[in-house]
Amino acid sequence: MARVHNFNAGPAALPLSVLEAAQKEFVDFQGTGMSLLEHSHRGKDYDAVHQQAIALMRELLAVPDDYQILFLQGGASQQFAVIPMNLLPADKSADYVVTGAWSQKAFGEAKNVGKVRLAASTEDNKAFTRLPTRDEIKVDPSAAYLHFTSNETIHGVEFKDWYPETGSVPLVCDMSSDFMWRKFDVKRFDLIYAGAQKNIGPAGVTVVIARKSLIEKGRTDIPKIFRYSTHAGENSMYNTCPTFGIYIIRNVMQWIKDSGGLDQIETWNREKAKLTYDFLDAHASYFRAPVAKDARSVMNIVFRLPSEQHEEKLIKEAKAAGFVGLKGHRSVGGIRISAYNAVSVDSVKQLLAFLDKFEKANP
Ligand SMILES: Cc1ncc(COP(=O)(O)O)c(C=O)c1O
Repeated sequence: MARVHNFNAGPAALPLSVLEAAQKEFVDFQGTGMSLLEHSHRGKDYDAVHQQAIALMRELLAVPDDYQILFLQGGASQQFAVIPMNLLPADKSADYVVTGAWSQKAFGEAKNVGKVRLAASTEDNKAFTRLPTRDEIKVDPSAAYLHFTSNETIHGVEFKDWYPETGSVPLVCDMSSDFMWRKFDVKRFDLIYAGAQKNIGPAGVTVVIARKSLIEKGRTDIPKIFRYSTHAGENSMYNTCPTFGIYIIRNVMQWIKDSGGLDQIETWNREKAKLTYDFLDAHASYFRAPVAKDARSVMNIVFRLPSEQHEEKLIKEAKAAGFVGLKGHRSVGGIRISAYNAVSVDSVKQLLAFLDKFEKANP
C-alpha cells in the first residue's frame, strides 16, 4: 500500500494506526454484528465511545470541571454565528481581533447577528503577515466578549507565546487549526472552538470547550438547537450526534495518549516547524516566507517561490513524488505546508530534501 505524505490543510492527515483500527472493526464493531455507523447513538455501545472521547480529551488537556466539552455539528463556520447568538445581548457589543481570513470571516458573520467592534486588525495592505502587539489590541471593557483566532490557517500566523489580555471580558478563541498541537491552559479562555478536521479527527465534528457559567448565561431567545445550554444539558446528545466522527476523535485521543501525551506531540510539532523554517531561512533568496518570525505558525507554514510558474511546477512535481496538499489557499496562492499532529517528522524531512533538489534543478 502506498500512502502519500499528506500536507493537506484540512481535512488533513490522520494517524495510520487510527485508520487501521477503524478499518478492522468497520463492519463488525466489537463483536456486535454491525458497524458503529449502524449503532444507535442512544445505545450502550456508542455511549461508551462518546464518554471515552470526552474523558480522554479532558484528561489530555486537563480541562477543569467547571468547563464543558461539547461535540457539535455545522463546522467552525457555524460557530461564527452561534457564538454571538448565544453571547451577544442586544444592548452590548463584541470585540474582534482580525489577523487573517478566518478571523475576518468570524467578524463578518457576527455583524449579521449583533453589534461588533474591531479591537485590532493586522490587515496592513491585505497582507496579514504579523500579529498585533499587545498594545494594539484595544479591548472595550464593557464588551460581551473578545474573539480571536489563535492560528490563521490561510495566512500562517499564530499566537504561540501569548494571548490577548482582556481582564474581565470573556475570551473566545477559534482554535480550529492549532487545537491540541500542545497542552495549553484552558482556564485562560472562556470559550474555545475547533473544527476537528485538522488535528484531531474527521470533518463533521466541531469541539466547543466552554466555561459552564458562560453557557448558563447564554441567551434563551434563540432557537433551542443553537443554544449551548441545550447541548450542554444533554452531553452533546440533544439530537443525533456525529457518532462516527466522535469515534475517530476518541481513537485519535487514545493515539495521543499512547504516543506520550501532548508534551510528546508538541516536541514533534516544534521539531517539524524548526526544520522547515530553518530550511526556508537558509534558502531565503529562493523560498520567501512572508510572516514575521514571532508570528510564524507551527501548523501552517506558508511561503513563495521566485514566480508562480515555479510554484505550479513544484506542486505538480511534488505530487508525482508523493507529497500532496502543498498548494496555498486559492485566495493567497503560494505554497503551504500543513504539518498537523499526524504528519511525521520523517515526512517533513523527506519533503525538505525534495524542496532542496527542486531549487537546484529550477533556478
Ligand atoms: C481557523 C479556521 N476557522 C474556521 C474554519 C472553518 O471551518 P469549517 O470548514 O469547519 O466551518 C477553518 C477551516 O479551515 C479554519 O481553518
